[in-house]
Amino acid sequence: MIGFEAELPEAGSYLATEIGQSPVILVRTKSGAIVGFHNSCRHRGAQICVAGHGRAPRLVCPYHQWTYDLEGRLLKAARMDQTFEPQNYSLRAVRVQTVAGCIYVSLSEEAPDFGPFREKLEPALGSQNLVEGKLAYSIVLEENANWKLVMENARECYHCLVRHPELMRVFPREIGDLPTYVGDQTGCEFVPDQHLLDQSGRVEIQEWWQIARFPFNPGVESFSMDGHPLVKKPFTAERSIGSLRWASEPNNFAHATRDVAFMFAAHPTGPTTTRVTAKWLVHKDAVEGVDYDLDKLIYVWDQTNRQDRDLAENNQRGVTGFGYQPGPYSKAGEPYLVNFTEWYCRTALDYIKQVSGTSAMPLI
Ligand code: FES
Ligand SMILES: [Fe+2]
Repeated sequence: MIGFEAELPEAGSYLATEIGQSPVILVRTKSGAIVGFHNSCRHRGAQICVAGHGRAPRLVCPYHQWTYDLEGRLLKAARMDQTFEPQNYSLRAVRVQTVAGCIYVSLSEEAPDFGPFREKLEPALGSQNLVEGKLAYSIVLEENANWKLVMENARECYHCLVRHPELMRVFPREIGDLPTYVGDQTGCEFVPDQHLLDQSGRVEIQEWWQIARFPFNPGVESFSMDGHPLVKKPFTAERSIGSLRWASEPNNFAHATRDVAFMFAAHPTGPTTTRVTAKWLVHKDAVEGVDYDLDKLIYVWDQTNRQDRDLAENNQRGVTGFGYQPGPYSKAGEPYLVNFTEWYCRTALDYIKQVSGTSAMPLI
């Protein structure tokens, strides 16, 4: 998950960002679709759009002004010889999917089937209608930790009770123990508690995604320190809907209450560095300073993010030396983490087999 559809409100709106070390551009076309390209000119590879949000009728490379339309087709390349065929130099597309107001990107040639995830997320997020949102705030944290440590930390709440006092005003203390992991090393089965069920009565936990509605503490309606709503113009009038949490491997989770959506994404930038991007979405009619206070809006998750950064960096320091020996997970307290690790090992093994051309690679 790279962001929200609301970040690209009109034709020509774009978002230039990076996935790991790969710059990409997401563009809203004239037909209203969101498409994505590698942000690398087909001439000599220069980055076409500088990072951030913008709007342009065409995409013009700043180097020699090769010019592309919003669909990525090369429109103009000056002083090329007569045999040059511009149709062969469209921007390289990346896979983009939008669902329920969220944008997903995959750089893989073999992205997994998105259909089942869409089928479950759309109705689960239906009442929140995040398409009607606007980006209220975003922040990037450059963390000194390997991305797997960052993600392991993001996939468990074993540490929450002690390390996230703000978040634990919102969620019940048992949240770190649920859902209970009961599978074997390959089954990844979970038995959720009743109050974690989504509105269709199911918790969905699949190989590369999970969807579940989390309860709040009694009297709590949003991610606020006092439990009160954060935004006067919410996405839905429904109250007491808790927070829908949806997450996709290998790098993301998001939460949506009745009045704010929050997303977290972690991308590796080096062996011991990770870029964490966090975004907050509110209803597009909500006015900062009138309908919401920005400091209060971001406080709980911003504090949580910074606490998690400190935990991941501390974890990195601890595993760096020769003295590190891994211990077992708590199956009760770290169930999603087991899921993440198994996903990672399967994916890494598939890759090793693919590049080595053998199925007999030993896995330690
Ligand atoms: S690298 Fe883009 S026009 Fe030359
Ligand atoms: Fe945490």
